[in-house]
This record gives sequence, C-alpha cells and structure tokens, in this order.
Amino acid sequence: METNITTIPEAFQIKETIAQNTYLVNGKLQQWNGKTTEVYSTISSTGDDKPTLLGTIPYMGESEANEALEAAANAFDKGKGLWPTMKVSDRVACMEKFVKQMETKREQVVKLLMWEIGKSLPDSEKEFDRTVEYIYDTIEDYKQLDRDSANFKKRDGIYAHIRRGPLGIVLCLGPYNYPLNETFALLIPALIMGNTAIFKPAKHGVLLLTPLLEAFRSSFPRGVVNIIFGRGREVAAPIMKSGRVDVLALIGNSKSAVALQDQHPYKNRLRLVLGLEAKNPAIVLPDADLDLAINECITGTLSFNGQRCTALKILYVHEDIIEEFNKRFAKKVDELKYGNPWEDGVKLTPLPEPGKPDYIQELIDDAKAKGAEIINDKGGERTYNYIYPAVLYPVNKDMRVYQEEQFGPVIPIVPFSEIDEPVNDIADSNYGQQVSLFGANIRTLAPLIDTLVNLVCRVNLNSSCQRGPDVYPFTGRKDSAAATLSVHDALRSFSIRTFVASKDNEYNNRILNDLLGSKASNFVSTDYIL
Ligand code: G3H
Repeated sequence: METNITTIPEAFQIKETIAQNTYLVNGKLQQWNGKTTEVYSTISSTGDDKPTLLGTIPYMGESEANEALEAAANAFDKGKGLWPTMKVSDRVACMEKFVKQMETKREQVVKLLMWEIGKSLPDSEKEFDRTVEYIYDTIEDYKQLDRDSANFKKRDGIYAHIRRGPLGIVLCLGPYNYPLNETFALLIPALIMGNTAIFKPAKHGVLLLTPLLEAFRSSFPRGVVNIIFGRGREVAAPIMKSGRVDVLALIGNSKSAVALQDQHPYKNRLRLVLGLEAKNPAIVLPDADLDLAINECITGTLSFNGQRCTALKILYVHEDIIEEFNKRFAKKVDELKYGNPWEDGVKLTPLPEPGKPDYIQELIDDAKAKGAEIINDKGGERTYNYIYPAVLYPVNKDMRVYQEEQFGPVIPIVPFSEIDEPVNDIADSNYGQQVSLFGANIRTLAPLIDTLVNLVCRVNLNSSCQRGPDVYPFTGRKDSAAATLSVHDALRSFSIRTFVASKDNEYNNRILNDLLGSKASNFVSTDYIL
C-alpha cells in the first residue's frame, strides 16, 4: 500500500514532534532533564516506508519511581489523608472537573491514538467517547452507591452504617491496544473510591496522555494521581518491591502480572485487579445462520487487526458446513480495506509493534509446515508495517497458532464433527474469558450454554465477543482475569466494606443523631447526593 504526505489530511499530519519533558508527581508537573526515549509510529509520513518520529518521553528510573510512590503514600497517609477521608461529593466534584477538561482534548488524543497505535479514526473516536462516557457513568454509579449506603441497618440490637472505603495505593498499568480506555477504566474507579494511584502508560500509546496531564494536575489534590514514564521493570518493579502497594491493577499479560506480584514482599496484602490474555473461540454449529456467523466472525477476529483481548482468536466450524463457511469467510476477509487510520472505510490498519508482522509470519509458517493452508488469496501479503490476515485451515493442536494468543491478524479455523471436541478444548484451555456460539436449535444450544457458562464468563449467542457495554461484567477464568470490571463492579473491586456499628441505647443513639445533625463526619451521613 502506498502512502505519502499528500494523502494524509492536513488535520492529521505530524507537523511537529512532542517533547514530553514533564511527569506528574505530588501535584506538580516536574521537569525532566534526564535520558529520553524516542516514540515512533510505524506509519510513514513520507511515503518511503520509514517510521515517523512522534516525540520523546522520559526514561525514568528507580529514584523517580520512589518519588511517585512517596507522593501517593503521603496523599493516602495510611488512610488518614485528605483524599481518602474526603466527602464523596467533593471527590465527585474533582472527577467532574477532570472529565470536563478531558473532553476539550478529544481532537489531540484521537490524532495520537491513530499515529501511536494505528487505530482507525472511527475506532479512535469511539475509544475517546467511550472513556468519557465511562467516567460519567462511574460518577453516577458512585453517587448511587453512596445513596444506597446513606442509612442504618439494625440487627440483634446493633445499628450499622455500612459503606465502601478505599484500599490504599494502587499501581495502575494498562495495555497498548486501549491505551486510554482500559487504563482509565482502572484508574478512574480507583481514584473516585478514595485510593491514590501511580500510573505508568503502556509501551505504545504514551504521548496521547500529554494533552491530559494538566487536567490531572489541576483536578486532584497533590499526590492523588502520579504519572510516570519508563520501562516496567525499571519503574514498576521497585514500586512493588517496596511492599507499599495495596492494589496491582493491570490489563496486559499474566507474565508481567506474575513478575510484579512476585516482587511484593507481603502478598497477602496485595489485591489484584487483572485483565489478562484470552483465546476466545467461536463455535459454528451446522444450523447456524451462515451470513450472520460470518459477519460476526469477521468483526470478532479482525476489529483492530485482532489486537483485542476479546477478539475471536480461533474458529471451530462444524464439518457439515465448513466448505461453505471457509469459501465465504475467506472472500469476506479479502474484501476488507487496508490503509492508514484516517482513510475512509478502512478496516485493517498498520500494526504498532514493529516485530508483529514477523511474529505472525512465524505462526503462518509453522502452521503450514504442520499441514494447514492459507485459504484466502491475500493472506500473508506483507507491507513494511502489516501482514494481511491469513485464514489458516485446517488447524490442529500441534500448531503454535492453536496454542498462542496471536493478538494480531491471523485466523485459525479448526473443523469438528462432535460438539465435545471444541467443548473439551475450551475446558482444557488456560484461558476462560468468552465464547461465541452460533446456532439456532435450542435442544443443542441449551446444554451447551449450561456448560460453557462454567468454562468462560460470557457466552455470546450469535454474536462476536466484546467487552461492552461497559456496564456489563468484564472478567475471566483461569489465566484470563482476576476480579471483575464494569462501571459498577470496578467500584467494588477498588474498595472494601467498612462500617460504624453501635449498640441501640439512648446514649449511643444521641451521639449518632448529633453526628448526623451536625454533618461533622464525612463518613457517617444520611445525606443524598442528587
Ligand atoms: O483488549 C480487550 C478489550 O477489553 C476489548 O474491549 O471488546 O470493547 O474491544 P472491546
């Protein structure tokens, strides 16, 4: 594919690089004069297949990581700090201030999403808008949580005023495929519940935070949110080693999660909120509506080039319909338009990881050597930053593409004759996030659904797998997750129940009434936030 500077719309051209030379610690954008790392896009702006320099970010080390940790620890102050003891309505006001400023940065963030991770314009806009909506929904849900707690229960002569309180210091790490949405889906609920946070952006999708740093700085009390840059092993590892982190919030892969967990000296104190790898399968039954199944499998396997934890990463198709399925599916894959993120109608876009095309090629070569074929004409065609999705058939368990989470554009198809075959594979798999089930006969579907719900955490009937809508639970079994995220569940994951209890007698009741009437406590309150 040819791309040169003249084909890039004016609004999306990179006219100057961004020197991100500050980091947010202790309520200040601290100046960084040390070593920096260059940030490149794999998209060329000159038409000569060369990566584009987008800017630089600080290459921080242990001492700055400790500075951020100290700031977060001081702001939490072992639970005595201003932020964790603040009135709910005041924390909500800080969050509202933040989101209003964030909304004004849409254009810059969307442009950087396209350049840094190659996400298409509509998908980049969706990521931004979905994140803003997530923040507003979180605010509303938190208000409702607060209203639901604005009362006293009574049991066995004891009154209880039960709320949810913060856990402490959260280390927050997000993935490159949703560098805004998924990191904020951790950070925002963590903050609003009264925790303090240290946040390190993913390996790609870093500069898009530059336009938001000032909004973070000016919206929250100092030390509540700290944003640092650098490599995980250099900044995240020392923070974990300190033993002062209460929650590890990470969306990424289990290897990094386990390595970080292992650094923590007091594991029993560490809460984990993790969204990890998955290999979501589709099962296409012989009576499935093929048009529908094919369309959903195209979206499921290839949205954002398959770089989604929820992507369909393996298709099980019944042998009675496989010939027809393969023919039509392969044709549809070849009809997808490849191009730069801002091009109209583009469905496949450059891969942000320079080594990804080679890795996908390895999977293809391995599968071919073990008996699979590429069944679509364009499958495996290369450009300097892309490899066209190869549909591989027939795939078996010996192939790497069966075993590994490809997280990229390659689609393995496995034929089956008995339903037990895919079901047993899913049961034996290390992953357990979601499945897509295509079929119509309820006598077949019913027992399958009853089993599959115990193997994964979401069974998508005649539709592809996805995280949204964000109000629904997002979690997984086995190596796929720890804790549950959703607008509502995330508030629970980042908090703990804590309460005031008092025996029902005149003396205590008078004190409680005075507490309520005087509004002297931020915790003991029956006020409704409207
Ligand atoms: O990378 C995994 C994301 O949570 C997927 O979210 O299904 O909305 O693309 P999505």
